[in-house]
Amino acid sequence: MENWSPDSWKNNPILQQPVYPDSAAVRQVETELAKMPPLVFAGEVRSLHQQLAEVTAGKAFLLQGGDCAESFAEFSATNIRDTFKVLLQMAVVMTFAGSCPVVKVARIAGQYAKPRSTGTEVIDGVELPSYRGDIINDIAFNAASREPDPQRLIRAYHQATSTLNLMRAFAQGGFADLHKVHQWNLGFVQQSPLGEKYQHLADQIDDTLAFMEACGISSDSVPQLRETTVYTSHEALLLNYEQALTRQDSLTNRWYDCSAHMLWIGDRTRQLDGAHIEFLRGVENPVGVKVGPSMKPDELISLIDALNPDNLPGRLTLISRMGADNITEILPALVRKVKEEGRDVVWSSDPMHGNTIKASSGYKTRSVNSILQEMKGFFEVHRAEGTYAGGVHFEMTGQNVTECVGGAFQITEEGLADRYHTHCDPRLNADQALELAFLIADTLKQARQR
Ligand code: PEP
Ligand code: CO
Repeated sequence: MENWSPDSWKNNPILQQPVYPDSAAVRQVETELAKMPPLVFAGEVRSLHQQLAEVTAGKAFLLQGGDCAESFAEFSATNIRDTFKVLLQMAVVMTFAGSCPVVKVARIAGQYAKPRSTGTEVIDGVELPSYRGDIINDIAFNAASREPDPQRLIRAYHQATSTLNLMRAFAQGGFADLHKVHQWNLGFVQQSPLGEKYQHLADQIDDTLAFMEACGISSDSVPQLRETTVYTSHEALLLNYEQALTRQDSLTNRWYDCSAHMLWIGDRTRQLDGAHIEFLRGVENPVGVKVGPSMKPDELISLIDALNPDNLPGRLTLISRMGADNITEILPALVRKVKEEGRDVVWSSDPMHGNTIKASSGYKTRSVNSILQEMKGFFEVHRAEGTYAGGVHFEMTGQNVTECVGGAFQITEEGLADRYHTHCDPRLNADQALELAFLIADTLKQARQR
């Protein structure tokens, strides 16, 4: 990689960074972080790269999801377990009902920094810096809370390591065993039609496993039945954090951002000459780029070439987030251009970020219907263009929240106040997420049958 080093991004213009009151304190924290152990290992990152190459080839499907913003306040074993359960449920629905291998990538163990549409927030005539995620400042609306504090980088790092530790234990320690599919169903989901649909699928899996066991195939002989791999990802927004965790692999001498397996660049920080592109072009991790409605086809090709000059399948995932009303108009030209130019990418759909609205009660929300509509549009466009719709990207949680309207429990705008806990964008609850998983499974199955 020519003219690149872990800190070469510092020569490029950068957006969406905090302004700290004491820069010496920031330097000290960066030095401390750079000495900490990496969260992930280069070999794991290479495995994800390979699996995403399978997705690029149309042989697997990418499921990416988790909190919009992880927070210090909501950090608990229960929340990690429940997010993990929903991811497993969605993945098993897509794998079994959709007959397609699913690559699981969580928005977790590092998803702490948020880009904001304005630098400050005004409430009742008082203007303060915007909340930028728990790795930077506190959400409470007072001057002390909103001041960026570099010690939060260290706290986020430690929270990420213990989150990842539990995730690895769940993935490898028996919790993800396919014989336990019934137990992944969360209490509140069991009361809904989706819960029943899931129980039915879990019964079918039980029967299949019993049949396989009679044929001599059991979780003792086939580890894939008793364990799984869930990769981690977050938006690489705060580049000093990413730089501090970027390490040179002793086997290959290449650079890996060891804060997560996969990193993505947000729609607000994807400028071609910007610091975020500069940083991510030099690390070997699979990279995602959010592609919003302002993206032009030529610009997209330049961006692809900056991040993946060797056109390696699995390196780049384009995460389309157009909005339900825009997608069928804007996406075709982009998909066509990428296909014509022979660039190998995963196309994934984020049906959340283009569909955020403000309810009359003042809550930021999204309707399950628009999310569904954008997802359907995404699959339709790819079908028409003869390309592969390779993945989805959701903001969701295992908690029984009321943040998105609609779904089987028919959450209304008035009902949002009941359990609205997100620190940033509204998330699907487990029930709503399962509904979408079943729909995706049907679509995958139909595509396979064609
Ligand atoms: C996000 O994924 O939380 C996000 C901020 O997305 P986008 O960059 O697409 O707005
Ligand atoms: Co978000």
